[in-house]
Amino acid sequence: MASKITIPVLKTKKAEKVKITMLTAYDYPTALMVDEAGVDMVLVGDSLGMVMLGYESTVPVTMDEMVHHIKAVRRGLKNALLVGDMPFMSYNVSPAQAVENAGRLMKEGGADMIKLEGGVEAAPAVKAIVDAGIPVCGHIGLTPQSVAKLGGYKVQGKDLSGAQKQIDAAKAIEEAGADALVMECIPGPLAKAITGMTGLVTIGIGAGPDCDGQVLVTHDMLGVFTHRPPKMVRQYAQVHGQMVTAMSDYIADCKSGSFPAPEHGFVMDEAILKDLKF
Ligand code: KIV
Repeated sequence: MASKITIPVLKTKKAEKVKITMLTAYDYPTALMVDEAGVDMVLVGDSLGMVMLGYESTVPVTMDEMVHHIKAVRRGLKNALLVGDMPFMSYNVSPAQAVENAGRLMKEGGADMIKLEGGVEAAPAVKAIVDAGIPVCGHIGLTPQSVAKLGGYKVQGKDLSGAQKQIDAAKAIEEAGADALVMECIPGPLAKAITGMTGLVTIGIGAGPDCDGQVLVTHDMLGVFTHRPPKMVRQYAQVHGQMVTAMSDYIADCKSGSFPAPEHGFVMDEAILKDLKF
């Protein structure tokens, strides 16, 4: 029987080398499904800006949008640990701002843990949030909120200085008191080395098979969109086609009159009709 996932449970899984799974969800029905499937962690990522709201990047996502979606996901989860993403500029101004906004994701949204992007420079925000009693997941490697600075969605940590930067980032996040770390688009051997050196529960996306766990954007792995998914994604379904076919069938049935059929309607004593005044 599935049981509630807590941070100590995740740490035990790391120690016992039991792989951890994480998927994104942004709404109530998806939360019900990922929880029923048995995922350990659910991330309301700021990827919702692109996936749900049609923005070109994660940069425009607001705190209010995050809180709104985290609340919906909270209502759908029984067992999975809920991680809420801190949007761009919600934690970069001052530690006090970071604590206030992280508090909103937990208090208003119902998140169990918050996630924020960045390395050494993000450590003061991580420390302040942890000191306020809020569990933190870091996010290093390709950090989409800094895509302008990184010059695009590129693999990070491939050369000596880049790899050292990721190691220093992981150490700084751990020393600041975080419990978990997402590593996005870094070479597998580097992710393996970081996973081995740290007590943080590492969750990889495009970071090879040796992280403590894996995360994917649910809409990518389900094939909700028609565009080719990023290289690190394995698609387990292509629901876009199935959904459009179902919608086209509905339109055709309405037009032909085959829907609604008698079983979809409600009957009455038609004799009443003649006594009605129209
Ligand atoms: O926002 C998000 O969905 C993420 C994952 C890709 C890790 O940060």
